[in-house]
Amino acid sequence: MTNKDRLAFPEGFLWGTATSAYQIEGAVSDDGRGASIWDTFAHTPGKTLNGDTGDVASDHYHLYESDVALMQSLGLQSYRFSVSWPRVQPDGTGRPNQAGLDFYRRLVGSLRDRGIEPLLTLYHWDLPQSLEDVGGWANRETADRFAEFASIVGSALGEDVDLWATLNEPFFAAFAGYELGRLAPGLTDTRAGVTAAHSMLLAHGKAVSALRTCLPGRAQIGIALNLDLVCPTTASEADQDAAGRVNDYLNRWFLDAALRGSYPEWLHDRFVDAIGGEFVEPGDMEVIAAPLDFLGVNYYTVVRVEALSADASDNLDAGAPARDPVFKRPYPSYLRAVATHLPDAARTGKGWEVYPEGLSEMLVWLHEEYGGLNMYITENGVSYRDERGPDGQVHDPARTEYLRAHFVAAHAAIASGVNLLGYFVWSFLDNFEWADGYSERFGIVYVDFATLERVPKSSARFLSEVAKQNAVSARS
Ligand code: FCB
Repeated sequence: MTNKDRLAFPEGFLWGTATSAYQIEGAVSDDGRGASIWDTFAHTPGKTLNGDTGDVASDHYHLYESDVALMQSLGLQSYRFSVSWPRVQPDGTGRPNQAGLDFYRRLVGSLRDRGIEPLLTLYHWDLPQSLEDVGGWANRETADRFAEFASIVGSALGEDVDLWATLNEPFFAAFAGYELGRLAPGLTDTRAGVTAAHSMLLAHGKAVSALRTCLPGRAQIGIALNLDLVCPTTASEADQDAAGRVNDYLNRWFLDAALRGSYPEWLHDRFVDAIGGEFVEPGDMEVIAAPLDFLGVNYYTVVRVEALSADASDNLDAGAPARDPVFKRPYPSYLRAVATHLPDAARTGKGWEVYPEGLSEMLVWLHEEYGGLNMYITENGVSYRDERGPDGQVHDPARTEYLRAHFVAAHAAIASGVNLLGYFVWSFLDNFEWADGYSERFGIVYVDFATLERVPKSSARFLSEVAKQNAVSARS
């Protein structure tokens, strides 16, 4: 890159990758691990593509040392991973399973030995099945169980981990899991979705307080939210209003709660009507709004929204795969909106529109709206159907370009004053992509799922160079 094209990031900016426990670890029966809702869901016929499960996944539980060594050889400075709750508390309650905790001690030790800064996420969707059996997240008491789990992990790893995220994407875990049925536990019940979202936020707030009492003062605590940009498909007032409603559902429901201690009022009232009663108890919002040190931003795409009119509903196809040239996916009826795509936009393997500008827009909006908070990109990346070439290597120029353009967008946000401290690419390894099984490859490192061999893709070398230089080229 020439000097003219070189966009430098602030000193100390952290470059790394992200993963989650169920998506990479495998070893589902090792060392006393209990079952999670994802074991149950993935083993239920018809729930995941090809019936794929995380039983073996990328086998990171056994291969973590060489995986960490590979991160080091790529010059990555940081690594975001999640702790499997049922490894640490097989039934979600009571005394910890030492063998489970020991795995994370070894992992964190290995990261520290190699100079890699860990960012630990406490919950990335793998609720112990025993807790689901008593209502899961739709049961408020799960929030108290989570605070206990947070204390156990905090006390065990607090000396070696400075960056903590409570939850990953409570929107998907609650609404896609309990209301829309797309993720574990696969319920389709608005009441369960709403109460699950509220209990997760309560769990977040309680865990923040629990962590503050057991972590050293230097610890930084945050939450990772899915924060895709929501845009109206046209400039019409109806589409703009619809986009506002969807933004409240996807983004503001969690942002306003965690950062301001309030819910968007109209949506709260809709939920109360829909489920036939109040679900917020006195004092809840104060617990949820426990002060945070950072916000984790998971950004992938732009969500285009159209107002739902009576005639538009005729064209809806809830089952249409996102890859179709034009599709419309309805949101729950109280939003009176559908998600759609611009027909000509570049799209990823998963069918998501590639829209890097949306990352700067989102970051600048968050900065202005929520008072200049510190942020990390806790996830950003792309899936393509990568294959090994005749030379045995994996060439992924489209991923490299996707990442470069998003790094440039992050740089633009920093230049306009946003306090962005680091960037975690999703994902380090190809892994179990939830209901899409192994069909979607998000890794910068290719995994041959037959042999578990790791092959760094060309995007891994690109990220390595960006991390070393702490700079990205303005042009491809
Ligand atoms: C996010 C999830 C992550 C991964 C990416 C592609 O919503 O947090 O686990 O599946 O999407």
